[in-house]
Amino acid sequence: MNHTLDDRRDRRAGPGLTPLSSLDTASIQEAYRRWAGVYDSLFGAVSAAARRRAIAAVNRLPGRDVLEVGVGTGLALPHYNTDKRITGIDLSVDMLRQARSRVARLGLHSVQALHEMDAEATDFPDDSFDTAVAMFVASVVPNPRRLLAEMRRVVKPGGNILFVNHFAAPKGPRWWIERGMAPASRALGWHPDFALEALFSPEDLGQATIDAAPPLGIFTLARLAN
Ligand SMILES: C[S@@+](CC[C@H](N)C(=O)[O-])C[C@H]1O[C@@H](n2cnc3c(N)ncnc32)[C@H](O)[C@@H]1O
Repeated sequence: MNHTLDDRRDRRAGPGLTPLSSLDTASIQEAYRRWAGVYDSLFGAVSAAARRRAIAAVNRLPGRDVLEVGVGTGLALPHYNTDKRITGIDLSVDMLRQARSRVARLGLHSVQALHEMDAEATDFPDDSFDTAVAMFVASVVPNPRRLLAEMRRVVKPGGNILFVNHFAAPKGPRWWIERGMAPASRALGWHPDFALEALFSPEDLGQATIDAAPPLGIFTLARLAN
């Protein structure tokens, strides 16, 4: 257990922000230590179109400074417009190692920094970024509401917060499959039964722009103005 990161998270916990389930810093780091070498081949293709949709949305938004939360192996990094200035953070040193090597290999000058940092409790001052984007991360963190609160804190008023993610089906066969997979969350490193309401309060849901994302709408792109 990495007490430093988890303790910092706990100190910053707000009222009503209880963890979703058993994913903690250590289990996330362990899961992504195992995924890091194969992540791009296993998950890269299925997630590519939704990731590109999210980055296109970021590129259209005003403002230069972008925080990419849970940057992973850096699959998104080559696709930002060159006038954006990207800071990436991730809990997993193994995923970050892949991202750093991608940045070096492709000479991605728009990437300002890649930090090992907990997205639920970052070191950034308030109002540091114009945009924060989390791609396939909200269902991974222990406390999605706290992730959103932290993204709100570090994004300037009037800036934008984007998520692209898989959210559990409200009913039907997919609901049963996702519920069945839920006990494997720790090994998978994400929550298959993650509901939109675990991230957004009813008030956020009323304000967010929510669109289906490819392939076949299995992912969702959500944008909130800060
Ligand atoms: C499914 S991967 C997504 C990676 C990347 N965003 C992409 O589009 O491929 C989830 C990433 O979130 C990272 N992560 C999980 N919890 C985190 C946290 N609390 N703070 C920062 N990164 C976290 C994991 O280490 C992993 O790299």
